[in-house]
Order: sequence, then C-alpha cells, then structure tokens
Amino acid sequence: MGSLWRREGGAADRGPAPRRERLPWRRGAARATSFDPRRAEDDDVQAIYKGEMNRDVPVAEPGELEPVSIGPLEVWPPVVLAPMAGVTNWPFRSICREQGAGLYVSEMITARPLVEGRAKTLKLADFGPEESPRSLQLYGVDPHYVGEAVKRLVGEGHVDHIDMNFGCPVRKVTSKGGGSAIPARPLLLRDIVRAAVTNAEDVPVTIKFRMGIDDSLLTYEDAGRIGEDEGCAAVALHARTAAQLYDGEARWEAIAHLKSIVKTIPVLGNGDIWEAWDALRMMRQTGCDGVVVGRGCLGRPWLFRDLADVFEGREPQDPPRFGEVAEIALEHARRLSAWMGEEHAMRAFRRFSTWYTKGFRGSAKMRQRLMRVRTLAELEAGYRDHDPNEPFPPTAMRVARGKTAGTQKVSLPQGFLEDRLTNATPPVAAAADMHSGG
Ligand SMILES: Cc1cc2nc3c(=O)[nH]c(=O)nc-3n(C[C@H](O)[C@H](O)[C@H](O)COP(=O)(O)O)c2cc1C
Repeated sequence: MGSLWRREGGAADRGPAPRRERLPWRRGAARATSFDPRRAEDDDVQAIYKGEMNRDVPVAEPGELEPVSIGPLEVWPPVVLAPMAGVTNWPFRSICREQGAGLYVSEMITARPLVEGRAKTLKLADFGPEESPRSLQLYGVDPHYVGEAVKRLVGEGHVDHIDMNFGCPVRKVTSKGGGSAIPARPLLLRDIVRAAVTNAEDVPVTIKFRMGIDDSLLTYEDAGRIGEDEGCAAVALHARTAAQLYDGEARWEAIAHLKSIVKTIPVLGNGDIWEAWDALRMMRQTGCDGVVVGRGCLGRPWLFRDLADVFEGREPQDPPRFGEVAEIALEHARRLSAWMGEEHAMRAFRRFSTWYTKGFRGSAKMRQRLMRVRTLAELEAGYRDHDPNEPFPPTAMRVARGKTAGTQKVSLPQGFLEDRLTNATPPVAAAADMHSGG
C-alpha cells in the first residue's frame, strides 16, 4: 500500500525537540496598550489575574523543575497540550506553539479508520510542515488495529510521539466497552498497550487515562503499572473518574499517589490548570514530572506563554486586551480556513469564538453575530466591531470551557464488570465514528 502521508525526512532525521525561544504574540503591540501588573503599585491590580489559591505561589526557582523526558524527547517546560477532539488540530496547535513551548498533541485519531485509509481520519492526522515533534493521540480498542495503525504511523515517519486515549467518558463509547471502560479490563488494556509499544520502534508511546469508572472502581493504579511494565515512555492521569466527567475539581492527590507507584517513567498530571501558577502548584504538590493542559487554553492560547514564563522564573505578562485577542482569534480562523476550507472552518470556529470572547463586555451580543458568520470577512468585521482596548476580564480566567458541568452514571455493556479478566475486545467497541474525545 502507498504511503498515507508525504513528508521530508523521518523521525530520526529531526532528532529531539529543540528548546524554543519565547515567541510572544506581537508583544510590542500589547505593551503599547495594556497595563502591566508588575509595574502597578496597587496590590489589588497585581492580584487581578491571579486566583486566590495562587496568591502565594512563586515562579520556579532556577533548577527547581526539570524538563520531562518522554523517550528521546526532552520537553521543556514540562508542559503538554492535552489532546482535545475537534480542537487540537494543527492550526490550533500552531497558534499555541507560537506562544510557548512544550509538547502539543493532536486530536484523537481512531486506529481502525486510519488503517483503512479513510480520508477524513487521515486529514485529522495532518501535521503542519514545520511541526516538530509530531505528537499524535491514537484511540483503539482492538490490539490488532492499534498495532497496524502504529506500524503505519511509525513506518512512514509520520510521528515522533504517540499518546493513547483510555479516558473517554462518553456514553456511546463506554456503553460499548471502549474509552475509559478499557482500564476496567486490565488484560485488554495491557494487550492494546503492548500492541502499540511493540510496533512503535523508537517512537515513545504514552497512555492517558482517568482515575477509574467511578469511586467504587478505581483503575488508575493498574493502568499506571501496565504502562510502566509494557514500556510506555510516560503515563498521564486526568484526575477525575469517568463518572465525574469534567465536574468538580480534579483530585490532584490521585496524581501524587500515582507518582508513588510509578517509579521508572514520568507521571504527567492533568486537570484544572487554568493559570500558569496552577501548573507549578500541581508539580510541587504532587511531585509529578509534567503537566497536561486542556480547557485552560481554549480561547487563551497565551497560557502557554505564561507557562513558559513561570517555569523560566519570570512573572507572566498581563493577558491581552480584546484587540490582541481578536488578532489571535482571526489568525487562528485564517489557518483553520486554509486547512479545512472557509465554509467548514467558519462553522467549526463558532465554539472557538465563544471561548475567545468569554467574559468581555457585551460578548453575548457579539457572539450572536459571530455565530452566524459564513466568511472570514464577516468574522473579521464581527471582531473588529468591539473595543480593542477592553482589558481581559479577570472573571474569564477560571471559567470552565469546552464541556458542561455535571456527573453521570457510567454506562457499560451488560455483564462487563463480571468478566474483568478477559482480554477480549468487546464486539461493538470499535466505534469507528468516535469523535468525542476524553
Ligand atoms: C473539547 C474536549 C475534547 C477532548 N478530547 C479528548 C481526546 O480526544 N482525548 C483525550 O485523551 N482527552 C480529551 N479531552 C480531555 C482532555 O484531554 C483533558 O484530559 C481534560 O480536559 C482535563 O484537563 P483540563 O482540566 O486541563 O481541561 C477532551 C477535553 C475537551 C474539553
């Protein structure tokens, strides 16, 4: 079969990720119009963008925190953009990457349609021409397809890192025994991970999972041990159960506990990093080796700039005013249009517009207009019609984005938990149309 992707040079040609210089978004322009909390004499102003829980959190001391090694990749700062379905395609990754540094994971790619060469799946697995390292999240429930998918991705030099998704809590996935249900069958989990690792050659494989199904069935200790035993390069824990969905606060103590169990590979912590200081707090509290950042960067890709700052021992800059947010949003929309076509992109961009404009004055009215746009020109007009000098609303710093609150009773196939020690893939679990993520 022919190559699925064309690319200059394989993984081996590029070597480990270069440390990046800080590339702030048009910092000059921002400085001209924005206030600088560090120069302000008023303590209240200084604290305006810092959550209560972070008031006493200092930036990193020199040498206090180290890069995280994911196989041959040295990631500094130890920050990973969380895989997010429908979000972390390469236009979004490129916007985030320009702000800061770290590892930027693709949206989830399902193994079976990838192996079958379905055009839509291949498109989602696109990387930008300059993107390095190339990090892809794979979802699969059947060791055979996972192994084949990895063989293909690696054989064609398409990726430098593969993350595997075992955290999806969506009903239509778990009810078929997929996603976050898989770790409840540790032997199946082991076989899937083994299929990935043994076919990945030198490309590091990591796994990402939740704490368990619910509080009565916690699976993360087993998942961590399996990751370690099977040769994963790191494990990542979203510190909530599937029953919790995105509700309540992530339970960082579970990250600390996992760190006490998984000794030989890095443990990455995930859940509720809304401000850069949260990442430092998570690392100091839990001893984890790096952080995975999800919803906090939705509509706020400069969170990666702030993260780079605090890990380098600098106070972060003030967040951008509306005019600069609009510039970032529009550049994001342009890249999305170039990648998927203007019409499609304008529809896909609606949720991004909601996130970019969150909390700004009159944003509900502005959004009514932004939700109807059909062209980039209309989108630009919608953003340009708002006061560019409006400062970033402090209330928008910790507002949850991307998923609504609420818990669930996790739906599993009939009898699923009565036979936890089987390694068989549940027959209908290979939900090829799965697109809802984790
Ligand atoms: C819109 C959206 C899509 C997501 N899709 C995926 C996915 O495809 N794979 C995955 O492992 N997790 C997925 N997640 C979960 C995130 O990777 C992350 O674990 C979760 O949001 C918790 O981190 P946070 O508190 O920083 O947001 C998704 C989350 C959101 C909000």
